[in-house]
Amino acid sequence: MTVRVGVIGAGMIGQDHIRRLTDVVTGARVTAVTDLDAARAAEVAASVGATAYPTSADLIASPDVDAVLVTSWGPTHAEHVLGAIAAGKPVFCEKPLATTAEDCLRVVEAERAYGRRLVQVGFMRRFDAGYRQMKQVLASGSIGTPLIVHCAHRNPTVGDTYHSAMAAQDTAVHEIDVLRWLLDDEIVSAQVITPRATSKRFAHLKDPQIMYFETANGVRIDLEVFVNCQYGYDIQCETVGEDGLVRLPDPAAAHVRTAGQHSSAVLQDWKARFADAFDTEFREWIASVTAGAEPTGPSAWDGYAATVISDAAVRSLESDGTVVTADMKPRPTFYGGTA
Ligand code: NAI
Repeated sequence: MTVRVGVIGAGMIGQDHIRRLTDVVTGARVTAVTDLDAARAAEVAASVGATAYPTSADLIASPDVDAVLVTSWGPTHAEHVLGAIAAGKPVFCEKPLATTAEDCLRVVEAERAYGRRLVQVGFMRRFDAGYRQMKQVLASGSIGTPLIVHCAHRNPTVGDTYHSAMAAQDTAVHEIDVLRWLLDDEIVSAQVITPRATSKRFAHLKDPQIMYFETANGVRIDLEVFVNCQYGYDIQCETVGEDGLVRLPDPAAAHVRTAGQHSSAVLQDWKARFADAFDTEFREWIASVTAGAEPTGPSAWDGYAATVISDAAVRSLESDGTVVTADMKPRPTFYGGTA
């Protein structure tokens, strides 16, 4: 069976995922594309032999669409995901699931009412080989009970449209999701403090930021978000347990010795760093759709949790570093909880 995918939003990541579904993943074909920019939709659709649709509602309703991929702007995600659930079609939604906790809960309630999981949210780090190795080490018990996690998320530079709240909402949100999954634990509070600001930033931006999270089991997480670090795109994560520690491997890069120097390259962007993770994410999503099974990746509940926790971090930033409790509803049994 070939899964026929309809794509809502043919921008940067939408086009990258269309390429992935066309050239990398077997068992999938993009049959439909829509975008607010009709000319862009037509051009992208034509490039892969798909049909351009005037609206997302038309695309979701199409008999040529088995599953929906949402890669439009964040504030529009909930509307498209709710449409796919109403049509009973599996839907992959790039992060965020929605930009407000209320909209995330609307999706959660619609999916529960439907009665089985249809939604996967695009947190791709869970599909990265290094994070998966860390998860195996933690699950094996070899480093004992985790106590502390040290993380860094660094980008070389950001443009002037990047503002201080985006450090939590767009950047740290990836650590928030992957650490909940790695530790199999919930984040219950957030605190954000700002050290001396780099001079290499736009004046409106607080950069770097140091974020502290605490989990329900008392694990403490510190995360440096530094989006104008100049030298490269660098993701670090080290979990310290009672009997040892586990550290995320750096991406493979040749070690060069010349002219009295020993060096290896640092990647410059997230696309290269997580290319394999995105490929695996889509292979596994298409496999679940092909099998008629529920998706195994991040759920609508995970999307809700990530939005609530990043909102708490933004509130802390805006209140000069107060510790802010993540105001999360109890997790329903439908999503593996007890409520
Ligand atoms: P973009 O601005 O390049 O593309 C978005 C496209 O969606 C545009 O062509 C726009 O016209 C279209 N669009 C917006 N609203 C629409 C609607 N209601 N119906 C149809 N089309 C609509 O944005 P980009 O960078 O591709 O990001 C898209 C989403 O993907 C964002 O939510 C972003 O956070 C997420 N993303 C996730 C990444 C990850 O690491 N997992 C990386 C990059 C983006």
